[in-house]
Amino acid sequence: MATVAADNTAVRVSGTDPMRPEIYTVRRVHRESHDTFTLTLVRRDGGGGMRFAPGQFNMLYVFGVGEVPVSISGDPADGQVLVHTIRDVGAVTAALHRLKRGGTVGVRGPYGSSWPVRDGAGQDLMIVAGGIGLAPLRPAIYHVLSHREEYGHVVILYGARTPEDLLFVHDLEEWRARFDVHAYVTVDRALGTWRGHVGVVTNLIPRTPFEPGNTTALICGPEVMMRFTALELERRGVPLNRIMVSMERNMKCAVGFCGHCQYGPDFICRDGPVFPYGRIRMILMQREI
Ligand SMILES: Cc1cc2nc3c(=O)[nH]c(=O)nc-3n(C[C@H](O)[C@H](O)[C@H](O)COP(=O)(O)OP(=O)(O)OC[C@H]3O[C@@H](n4cnc5c(N)ncnc54)[C@H](O)[C@@H]3O)c2cc1C
Ligand code: FES
Repeated sequence: MATVAADNTAVRVSGTDPMRPEIYTVRRVHRESHDTFTLTLVRRDGGGGMRFAPGQFNMLYVFGVGEVPVSISGDPADGQVLVHTIRDVGAVTAALHRLKRGGTVGVRGPYGSSWPVRDGAGQDLMIVAGGIGLAPLRPAIYHVLSHREEYGHVVILYGARTPEDLLFVHDLEEWRARFDVHAYVTVDRALGTWRGHVGVVTNLIPRTPFEPGNTTALICGPEVMMRFTALELERRGVPLNRIMVSMERNMKCAVGFCGHCQYGPDFICRDGPVFPYGRIRMILMQREI
């Protein structure tokens, strides 16, 4: 079991076996889009959900199929349930997609570093998500909105491929309706009734109020999207170590033993998934690493 230190690095707590999953039961399956769904889990032994910091992930194990890393997408203040939002891309995620209410899943975690939402207090906050990248950011957004008075401007920018691919549409409506949040949504392409923005998410940045030198940015999405967003924020003068990105790599152990998730000199499971852009800039700027 891991916790997170104030500087957002993961801290390992000894005394429990990090490779042994706990059994959780599916309480609810919610369809987000044609290929993405949200699982609400509760502990089979009746215990509470799980304490975690926004941005951390769990290893989800489907018995007889395999195990995959998935970020926690629920509210960190809700200790009763554990929430994950998953895109069905292959064998294990398809098996998770087939789960019904009452089904079981093994969970080990939470692992990894987190979004520095507490360090960002007193600053403007720029949250930029692409596609399924809104899932790891949603806990940070819940935290920030329930401590709204601690921040300056709060900007939420979200881009998806099409209107049908948008996740958390109920949350998006709520965030866009708030007067104290600047929330904008865009899609790459749209037909028919879509009246919103069309184009890449970086196009929305000029519409938003923020003071670059006093901004913390949280970015999650496809690597190409994170690269262009980070470059744009860097160009505007946001300090490199205040631009945070969340990386993904294939994982096996998730506790820094096997090397499967190596990213340059770092391991994503142990040193990430959330990194300051300034620390990994040289690697992120190279494709296919
Ligand atoms: C820290 C972390 C957090 C993640 N959070 C989420 C999340 O919140 N929601 C979610 O849907 N997914 C998340 N992922 C990605 C998820 O782990 C992969 O989609 C999953 O491992 C695919 O497994 P599979 O057996 O279903 O597919 P596979 O059969 O293994 O692969 C199917 C396809 O997905 C690609 N793929 C496999 N693993 C990854 C990966 N780690 N990253 C990107 N592409 C991959 C393969 O290259 C292949 O094209 C996260 C990954 C990491 C490392
Ligand atoms: S997954 Fe084994 S070292 Fe990261």
